[in-house]
Amino acid sequence: MEKKLRSQQWFGKKGKDGFIYRAWMKNQGIPADEFQGKPVIGICNTWSELTPCNAHFKELAESVKRGVIEAGGFPVEFPVMSLGETLIKPTAMLYRNLVSMDVEESIRANPIDGVVLMCGCDKTTPALVMGACSVDIPAIVVSGGAMLTGKFQGKNIGTSDIWRFSESVRSGIMSEEELNLAEAGMCRSRGHCAVMGTASSMACMVEALGLSLPGNAAIPAADASRKVLAQFSGRRIVDMVREDLKPSDILVRKAFENAIKVNAAIGGSTNFVIHLLAIAGRVGIPLNIDDFDRFSAGIPLIANLQPSGAHFMEDLYYAGGLPAVMKEMQSLLNAECITVNGRSIGQNLERAQTLNQEVIASVESPFKLDSGVAVLKGNLCPHGAIIKPSAANPRLMQHTGKAVVFENIEDYKLRIDDPELEVDPDSVLVLKNTGPKGYPGMPEVGNMGLPKKMLDLGVTDMVRISDGRMSGTGFGTVVLHVSPETAENGTIALVKNGDMIELDVVGRKLNLLVPDDELERRRIALADPVNQFKRGYARLYVEHVEQAHLGADFDFLKGNSGSEVLRDSH
Ligand code: FES
Ligand code: MG
Repeated sequence: MEKKLRSQQWFGKKGKDGFIYRAWMKNQGIPADEFQGKPVIGICNTWSELTPCNAHFKELAESVKRGVIEAGGFPVEFPVMSLGETLIKPTAMLYRNLVSMDVEESIRANPIDGVVLMCGCDKTTPALVMGACSVDIPAIVVSGGAMLTGKFQGKNIGTSDIWRFSESVRSGIMSEEELNLAEAGMCRSRGHCAVMGTASSMACMVEALGLSLPGNAAIPAADASRKVLAQFSGRRIVDMVREDLKPSDILVRKAFENAIKVNAAIGGSTNFVIHLLAIAGRVGIPLNIDDFDRFSAGIPLIANLQPSGAHFMEDLYYAGGLPAVMKEMQSLLNAECITVNGRSIGQNLERAQTLNQEVIASVESPFKLDSGVAVLKGNLCPHGAIIKPSAANPRLMQHTGKAVVFENIEDYKLRIDDPELEVDPDSVLVLKNTGPKGYPGMPEVGNMGLPKKMLDLGVTDMVRISDGRMSGTGFGTVVLHVSPETAENGTIALVKNGDMIELDVVGRKLNLLVPDDELERRRIALADPVNQFKRGYARLYVEHVEQAHLGADFDFLKGNSGSEVLRDSH
């Protein structure tokens, strides 16, 4: 027997309440039978002109609606706060949890039977998935798709080149005029970053988890197939409501393992770690930071995409998309996991095929053996820190050097190009106070640019350590997410100029080579952490955000509260 539709608790009511619920909907010119007994499908839209990556979502939502109507559902589009990486200060990450609350409460409070999550720019994907998981009604993700590959002076460019360009300008290899030309060629179409940055990693994450239709991750935003996929997703969510196929049915532990393995194979973003931990926390699946090392071990890099490789998201699509990548590594995946289309991962991959081995390699002869995320432990990061070996310099994977300490990002900006800065190519740059509480919001500054002095010597990489994040498009020998952070008086708060630091990626170690008694003396001298924010969201954030190794969610948002709302509004 079919379960009674949740929306009928509103539209199916008699008397005053039902009158109010229906009458005001009818002001939109909707006939009475439109929401009678039909699955009501919310389209959770992160459209915003301030989020350029998602600026085409109003149009894309029309395709979703067409699909919903075709399948006998009733679509209702609603806005939630949108997060664009490029414009939001101090960092979009500060608001990921806020958006997840917006999404959760918007879904629960309204007469919605199923929801389509319109995700694009980095944080919009985890925020929407987290929120939807905490309600746990049927949900499907439609990603916006990546931009077309950028072009500059006859070369392909993407977001990762920004870091290269800015270093080139600083070292005088590139002129300001050339930089302006590059700027004009970077973002040629609608969509999110064209490399395997965080947005594309998130799109791959939802596909690997089974939360989107197969193929969702790689279709370019500008390709007509993106609209077709949106329409199919609209059709499918209606059936998911009829089948009562919920996120909790799909997001089992083995699905999370698949996502970790796929993220390794594609050279996905380091931000993936934080977001997947936070999503697992909402579903109640035990997942910890060591799982990222454990399940990415033995997974080689098979997608040759920037920043770990050479190509762009558009190329991935033409080469067969994520299904082709997953097909190559199928023997390593839990193929029995169920996905939103009701079929298993294995069934979905039956017809997947690699069309270009320049872009998608095999597990047997991959592009690189090192992939995924290495989780480091040691006295500098007792709860963990991460590094992405595929984007790092092999020469620096085992390295000991003298710390050059920056107290915060302002201190770094002030002194990094100072000719007097005491630094050599073996130095280890340490940036403090960029963690979840310390910034607050954990900005993407971990791949800090090298000192001008070093660039002039031709140095292209140095070990860099922080409690912050880096852009998924970033690269270098960059140790991130040091936990506990500076603002929690973690060991990183104790590092002084000239201290020796040992990084050993092979041994998974990160140590501050200072005797314990000296560290203890320094620790005693530290003041207790204080929340400098007296009001507003920043105060709530600093009071409740958890450390990076736990996913930086709010402590009170773990788990789900279901979809039940017992009281009426009148
Ligand atoms: Fe939106 Fe890169 S800025 S995905
Ligand atoms: Mg980013």
